[in-house]
Order: sequence, then structure tokens, then C-alpha cells
Amino acid sequence: MQKLAAGNWKMNGTAAALDEVRALLAAHPAPACEMLLCPPATLIARLADLAAGSALRIGGQDCHAAPSGAHTGDIAAAMLADAGASHVILGHSERRADHDETDDQVAAKTRAAWATGLVAVVCVGETEAERDAGTTLAVVGRQLAGSVPDGATAANCVIAYEPVWAIGTGRTPTLPEIAEVHAHLRATLTARFGAEAGGMRLLYGGSVKPANAADIFALPDVDGALVGGASLKAADFGAIVAAL
Ligand code: G3P
Repeated sequence: MQKLAAGNWKMNGTAAALDEVRALLAAHPAPACEMLLCPPATLIARLADLAAGSALRIGGQDCHAAPSGAHTGDIAAAMLADAGASHVILGHSERRADHDETDDQVAAKTRAAWATGLVAVVCVGETEAERDAGTTLAVVGRQLAGSVPDGATAANCVIAYEPVWAIGTGRTPTLPEIAEVHAHLRATLTARFGAEAGGMRLLYGGSVKPANAADIFALPDVDGALVGGASLKAADFGAIVAAL
């Protein structure tokens, strides 16, 4: 399968960031992997214009479960698609923590994303306390079961494993620990979705940098990365793209 290098800009980026995207496109006009950048909603349309005709896809960072209505400050999946997005990140741990998002809500948002043709990038991951307690596989298995609705396919669903304690900290699990979780995700998805699960891309996220990308990408069942801080600079994200 084609691997995926995805960048999550989180709440970072203004018009000045367009120069980084221009630099990325100039340096990687024909990457071996698929590239995705998920900027704040304010920049989706402008990045989509820049990326038109290129190998770069644009995504949102969240959507509402409802198609429209009285939800001040929220964005519907169809609005993301209208702005030029093809993907949307759902259930990121920062949304689960900051907005009390539950697995049920993530599943509802995922269904809304699919209803408009967006690819859902559904995030799971344990806290440090959960890892220390030895419950990592149980936690990600429960999140996967609750957050990914029936109907997931290789085309409409990407799973991102992001240990909460590795996000923005410079710390990562060991390579065997990453491989263990990804194998568990693949087995869990296969038990539920059969052969289709073999084509679902499983991304690792959490302090992915140019220096550790190649080792992580060489692991079985790691089909790409969801990159935060290092996706903000074309040189760093480009180096990760080149490692895939
Ligand atoms: O969604 C990506 C993210 O949470 C990882 O962030 O900054 O550790 O690469 P970072």
C-alpha cells in the first residue's frame, strides 16, 4: 500500500505558513508516499488552492457530527470538503482531553465525515499512567472498537496510534513497543473487518522527527506517520516524507 505522511498543524499557522507549503511542494513534487497536511480551518482553502494538481492532500482537524445547524464555532464535514479538504483527523487526544470527546462522539463524527466523502484519520493512544499500568493494548483496543464505526474500509479510514505521553515531548515508545501496538491494531481490525483491514493504513504519531522517522517506518504494520511539530517546517516534514 502507499504510505502516508500526515502533518497536523494543530492551532498553529497563519498566512505566513503558506511559504512552508510552497517550499514543501517545490522540494517534493513527486513523493513516493501520499502527503497530507491538516492546517487550522482558517487555512484549509488557501492550502487546498496551493496544493491543487500536486501530490499534497489537505485535511481538517475535527468536524461536527451534524450536517449543519446551530453549533456556534463548529465546522461540518461538508464545509471541510467544500473548502478543499479530503481528510479529517478525528478523536485526537487533545480533543478527547480538551473537549471531553468520547468514543461515541468520535464514531458519530467519523460517520459524518464518511457521509461527505472525507477520509477519517481516527486517533487512539494511551496515557502514561495507562502504559505504566500495563493497559496500553486494552485501551487502544477499546478506543478502536468505540471510535471506528461499522463500514470502515481501506479507502475511508486511517488509524493513527498516538501515545499521549509521546506527543510534543520528544519521547517515543521503543521500536518493539510501537510494533506491538500496531500489530494489535491490525489484528483487532482484521478480526472485525476481515481482509479489508490489511489495506487500512496505521500511522504512528508522537515526536516523529527526521532523526527517528526511518527506524519507525521500517517497522511492520507502520504505514506512515501523523506528525505534529515537525510538520510545521518544510525541511523537517520533507525529510520525514523522504524517509517513507
Ligand atoms: O497529531 C500529531 C501529534 O499529536 C504528534 O505531535 O508534535 O509530537 O509530533 P508531535
